[in-house]
This record gives sequence, structure tokens and C-alpha cells, in this order.
Amino acid sequence: MTILQLINERVRAALAAAGAPDAPAVVQPASKPEFGDYQANGVMGAAKALKTNPRELAQKVVAALDLNGIADKVEIAGPGFINIHLAPEYLARRSEAALKDDKLGIAPVAPQRIMVEYSSPNLAKEMHVGHLRSTIIGDALARVMEYLGHNVVRANHVGDWGTQFGMLVAYLVETRHAGDADLQLSDLETFYRNAKIRFDESEDFANTARDYVVKLQGGDQEVLKLWEQFVDVSLKHCEAVYEKLNVGLKREHVRGESSYNDDLPVIVEELREAGLLTEDDGAEVVFLEEFRTQEDKPMGVIIRKKDGGFLYTTTDIGAVRYRHKSLKLDRVIYVVDARQSQHFAQMFSICRKAGFAPPEMVLEHVGFGVMMGDDGKPFKTRSGGTVKLIELLNEAEERAYALVSEKNPDLSEEQKRAVAEAVGIGAVKYADLSKSRMSDYIFNWDTMLAFEGNTAPYLQYAYTRVQSVFRKAESYDASAPIVITEPAEKQLAAALAQFEDTLQAVAEGCYPHYLSTYLYQIATLFSRFYEACPILKSEGEVRASRLQLAALTGKTLRAGLDLLGIKVLDAM
Ligand code: ARG
Repeated sequence: MTILQLINERVRAALAAAGAPDAPAVVQPASKPEFGDYQANGVMGAAKALKTNPRELAQKVVAALDLNGIADKVEIAGPGFINIHLAPEYLARRSEAALKDDKLGIAPVAPQRIMVEYSSPNLAKEMHVGHLRSTIIGDALARVMEYLGHNVVRANHVGDWGTQFGMLVAYLVETRHAGDADLQLSDLETFYRNAKIRFDESEDFANTARDYVVKLQGGDQEVLKLWEQFVDVSLKHCEAVYEKLNVGLKREHVRGESSYNDDLPVIVEELREAGLLTEDDGAEVVFLEEFRTQEDKPMGVIIRKKDGGFLYTTTDIGAVRYRHKSLKLDRVIYVVDARQSQHFAQMFSICRKAGFAPPEMVLEHVGFGVMMGDDGKPFKTRSGGTVKLIELLNEAEERAYALVSEKNPDLSEEQKRAVAEAVGIGAVKYADLSKSRMSDYIFNWDTMLAFEGNTAPYLQYAYTRVQSVFRKAESYDASAPIVITEPAEKQLAAALAQFEDTLQAVAEGCYPHYLSTYLYQIATLFSRFYEACPILKSEGEVRASRLQLAALTGKTLRAGLDLLGIKVLDAM
């Protein structure tokens, strides 16, 4: 059980003993040290429901509250808050247990089958900055859920189907004839642009492209093979980006839109059988009462167009059906731009009504805001074009390289490159993962690469400080007991004990920034502890105990940053 769950349970029991059996305990970490370590705020609500005086009820609750061995002081504050001060011995034992455990003491959860669908770029073009947020937020969520013990299925729902691919295949054939296909494919942006130029300028080319679309949809082996070759090249571009980003998406996680192609006519039939389809001007449409148009009419979602073509939504419905029927998932998380929220709400609604997703299968759109440039507008190149993701990441490394060369010129070239990679990529990721995902944020090199404040370099540096303590310590007893006496020691230990609760909160709400905020807090508390409580200059048990706290700090920072997909270094 996590600390928070434990205290909640005990306060609830005490509330029940005091005559409020149904009242929630509302326990939270205290916002200030003088309020203790945790604060229970449930008494006020309970008193209101019982129509009694909150302070009197609080007294009864405190009298009944059994936190033996856990807290050493419990007091009532204000109108009926209960401030709980954890016992140093309890924190010491918990820290020791965490140190001995590979997963820092977190208890395994009841595992769920959770799919995290993320990144999902369109393969017609190269990945650009617009794909950054989904890719790194999704990866962090997948890592956290896996760490907690869930069965995580990663999914990359790439856009690999549709009319554009006829054009691209036609251009592939043409460039092969001209002998420069490989060269052209090395830059997919230009490849796409040139294909489009050909499409617009040549009627013959456009006809071939259209013919290929028909052949693709009809399953023509030869054209499919060409299409596969193109998709393969495009996926290799993505994989280079994932690799650089330290993101765990591999080929086996790709299940593109094309893979649902054969199911689409079946979906239409099943929707018809469920009585959900209406014909509207030749198209097959599902009208949803709960979504209203501006004229206050039920909104229509097109499932099949007049010309027989299917849409983005149809494919997504197919994917939900597959994810239930074949994968039997408990929870599916879609990490996709918040601007698609209506699409997901409608699509989920159709799937529920059609029975493609049973009520117990959780479908969640995890949206996010826009990454903006310094001008407060969506991030673009100087000339207003889209920024290729790989170029942005290369620039991050170059900037970090320049920084480390200046700060630490004595490092070898190889070391500088390693620091540049960890810090540069880490900074880009952390700048994103440290903000609440729903808000837009401004992408700024200087703030994200700063060694002060809530940044990746600051946390990475904090980690190296811990490591340097161990380099300087000649001896270290990894099983020494922890003894907590100083306030700075206690605050650090109390925060370290919140690791599990933090991860659970991340997994529950799909908010990676809870973890970033937590790690920043750990780094800050470590730095206070480091100043207030000499480690290497102390002796005997005190020194051994402080080294243990430093060790747990290092492990927690490392594990936490790893869950965000950010690398650490022993020195930088
Ligand atoms: N390929 C889409 C795009 O680039 C994102 C796909 C999101 N996932 C989904 N299941 N619709 O906008």
C-alpha cells in the first residue's frame, strides 16, 4: 500500500468510529512543513453532513485515529484540518526497504492490459515538431504504467493509407526509372513536394496515381509491394527520430491505418445492423443526438462517403473494434492533439453504441496543447515552414555540445558528445513533460537548457552531484541503517517516500508533469539536505545513514528520469 492509501484508510476508519462511516478522508501531502507531512481535510465535509461542529468531530477522529508506528504527532488545525507528522523511524524503515528493492519499494498493482497509442505520424511526410508531444508524452506514460506492473501494449497508429499514397507510389516508380529514387527518398519532404508538383503538372502522372489508388485498395500485389517499400523508408525515418529521442517505439508496435482496411465494409454492415446508420445524400452517416450542430440538430458523422470511400473516423472505429475483440484491452489511451477531442468523443460514442467497446473498456483521449515559438504562434521555421523533428533534435544536441564545451572543456570529445546527447535531448523532452499537457507552451532554447530552475540539466546535474559524493566516499555500507534526526533529512525522506503515489497519480490522470514536479522537489530537497547535513565530513552511523539517503535520492532521480525517457550521466 502506498503511504497515501495507508493514511487514507486509517483516517477513514477513524471517521467511521467517530460516526461518519461514509465520509472521504481527503488526505494530501501537506503544502507547508508546519502542517506536517500529510493533511486530512475530510472532517469539514463530514461535519457538515452530520450537522455537528467540525472541531469537535476532529477531536473524536484524532482520538480514534490509529497511526501507531507511522506518525509521531497528529494535531488539529484551523476549522478541522488534521495535520499528520510522520515518525522519523517509520520513514527510515521505509527508505531502507526502498533501497533494497529493485523498484524502490513500490508494490505491484493489479495488472491491467493498457494500450498507449502514441506518435502515430502520417507516413506520407517526414515527422515534424507537431509529432513531438504525442511521441514523448505517450512514451513516458507507457513507461510509468509498465513500471507500476501493468501489461502495456504500445501502438503506433501511423497514417499509411489513402489517396496520397497512390501519388507517392507513382512518383517512386518514376524516380526509380530516373535512377535517383534513393537520393530523393532521403528527404521525404522534398519527395512529397516533387510528387505533388508532378501530380499537378502532368495529367498522365495524375492518372497513374489515381490508378494506383484503385489498385492499392483492390489489393494489387505489385502496387502493394511498391507501397510497402515506401512505407518502409518512411518508417525508417521515424525510427531514427525515436532512437534519438530515446523513445521505445519499434517496428512491432506499428499497426497502421491500412491494417483496418478489410474491416471497414464489415463495420458499415455492423453499424447498419445496430440500427445506427442513416443514408444522407448518398453517404452513410451516424447521427449523434448528444452532439449538436449550430442549428441544434444532431450531428452527423460520415462513415462512408458518397463515392464509397471511408474516412479517418471509420478506421478509428475499426481499431477500437479490433482492440476489444482481438486484444481484450482494459484501457486504451490515445495521446493525440487536443484539437481532435471532438473526433474522439464522437468516435467513442459510436463504438459504445455499436457494442465495439464494452462499458468496462476504458477509452481515453489524452490531449495536449500546442508547442509555440517565442512569438507565441505555433512553432515554425523562420520562413514559416514546418520544422523537421530530426533537425530540431540535432540542433538541441549542437547547442548542448557548445554549452558543455564551454562549461567543462577538459572532458574528452566522446564524453562531450555523450553529455550533449543526454542534456540536449533531455532538455527538449523535459521542457515538454514538465508542463501540464493541456496547456500550450513556448519552446525556448535558453530556458530549457538552463542549469538552474525546473529543467533537465538541473536534474541531471543534481544526479551527478549525488554520484560525486559516492566517488569521494572511500567506503560505503549499502546495508547501513538510516537514522533521521535533522529536519532536512526528514523532509527528504518524506518526499522520497512519495515516489509510488506520484507514479500512481501519473498513471491515473495521464499527467507526466506530476513526476517532473516531484523530481524537481527531490533535487531541491537534496540540495538543502546537502548543505544542512554534511555527509562525508560526518562520522560513523551518521555518515553511513546520510550516504544511504543520498543513495536513495540518486536511485529515485535516476528511475524517475528514466521513466520520462531522459538519460542521466555520472559526471557532466
Ligand atoms: N495520423 C494522425 C495525425 O497525424 C494521428 C492519429 C491519431 N490516432 C488516432 N487513432 N486517430 O494527425
